[in-house]
Order: sequence, then C-alpha cells, then structure tokens
Amino acid sequence: MTKAVLGIIGGSGVYDLPGLTDIREEAVATPWGEPSDTLRFGRIGQTEIVFLPRHGRGHRLSPSDINYRANIDALKRAGVTDIVSLSACGSFKPELQPGLFVLVDQYVDRTHRRESTFFGTGCVAHVSMAHPVGPRLAERLAAAAEAEGVPYRKGGTYVCMEGPQFSSYAESITYRHLGYDVIGMTAMPEAKLAREAEITYATLAMVTDFDCWHPEHGAVDVADVIQVMHGNTEKARRLVARLAAGFPAEREPCPAGSHKALDTAIMTAPSA
Ligand code: ADE
Repeated sequence: MTKAVLGIIGGSGVYDLPGLTDIREEAVATPWGEPSDTLRFGRIGQTEIVFLPRHGRGHRLSPSDINYRANIDALKRAGVTDIVSLSACGSFKPELQPGLFVLVDQYVDRTHRRESTFFGTGCVAHVSMAHPVGPRLAERLAAAAEAEGVPYRKGGTYVCMEGPQFSSYAESITYRHLGYDVIGMTAMPEAKLAREAEITYATLAMVTDFDCWHPEHGAVDVADVIQVMHGNTEKARRLVARLAAGFPAEREPCPAGSHKALDTAIMTAPSA
C-alpha cells in the first residue's frame, strides 16, 4: 500500500487552513536546483498535506522563472501522491465569471521557455498526457466545492501562455474562438512533470477576469486579479480543508494512469 499525501501548490494564502495541525517547514534539495520555497507540512485529521507557494514567499518568481522541475521533485521526495494546483486565470466564456472555480480537465501548452521534462539524452521517455487530470481527484474536489457551497464548474480547457505580459486582443479572441475556457501562466509544465513523476494532478483555476476579449469589460490588470484573488482565498482554504478531511488514507489507482505513468513510457534500454 502507498500512503496518500496531498500536495497543494498555490499562493501563501491557503496555508492557514482551519484544523491544520503538526505544522513544520523543511527545505528540500533536488538535483534540478531550488524549489520556489521551503515545503510546509501539516495534517488535517489523518491526512498529511504539503504546501508549496509557487511564486515563493513575497511573490518573487515570475511564471517563466519558476523551477517547475525542482518543485515537482521536492513534492515527490516529500511523499506527495496527489497535487492540487491552485491558480488564477482569465475567462473566455461569459458564464465563467470572476469568483468561479473551474476544475480544468484539459490543457493547451503555449509556453516556450521552460524546462518541461525530467527525461532527455540518456533516458528517453514519453508519458501519455491524453487525460492529464486525475478523474477521482477532480471528483473529490467537486464534492468538496459542493459541500462548502463554493461556486465551481467541472471540466474546461486551460491554455497556458508564457507571459509575463497578458495576451493581445488578437490572441484573446483567437483562444476564445478555439473554444478554450480559461487562460493562465502556470499549469504547464507543472501538469506534465507531475505525470512524469507519477503524481496524480488536478488544477483548481480561480477566475479573476475576462482577459481582454469581452466588449463589456476592460483589459485585465493586476489590481483586478489581486482583488478577486483576495476574495477567493477564504473559499479556496475551506475547499482544500474539506478535501483533506475526507481524503483516503491509501493512494487510489488513477483511472488516467498517473500512478503508473512510467510503466509503458521508457524507450531507452536498460544498460547491461
Ligand atoms: N491569470 C489571471 N488572469 C489571467 C489572464 N487574463 N491571462 C493570463 N494569466 C492570468
């Protein structure tokens, strides 16, 4: 049996969970360099939780400068089996309004200057990203949102842009016409690396704005994003605490195969 450990990647605001005990911090070294911050460990009931603020304390790291490999590796070393990734996003749909939580189930990766694999020359591997989100983890998140009365939508496509600038109007209407639901700057390559590390992954994308396509809303700015995020922190905390309280003690097999992603992925022959 593998003990289930819940990892939360997000802002520092979600640390302060109701009912969190046994809190300690640890700096975890990785062969990929420094994670964004020290890991913060705690427990809700029987569930162990490990937090990592993605942008580091004081929001020092831009999305392109985050060491995603070190972050995922550090969480793996801490025993994390399931990651919930919290992130702000812009919306391409009138019905996905600021304040809503979208349980994304697909990603489009438009990043281009980030290290996005643990593999390479010497050991070549190709994991499946057909179904990047763990369906059971997403179900649990939906149930926790429901129980806490947090407004959410299940399913959606998240396009991850490089940033740090927001999209142009032409980009925004193109993504909207392509049918994408939300846009952010951080879920990729996080989701890919989690799959390579055989960690089950889900994104809780918190809508903060309508990017810049909406005729009745101005272009997004950081003040809007921060204001909506502040309003969302309390909801995110309750949702994560509820998820943790009902989390299984043992790791569940993932219908998307994340618990055994490497079983069929490695091309390189073992050396003699
Ligand atoms: N994060 C929050 N809003 C965003 C937007 N409109 N584009 C990219 N990332 C975002």
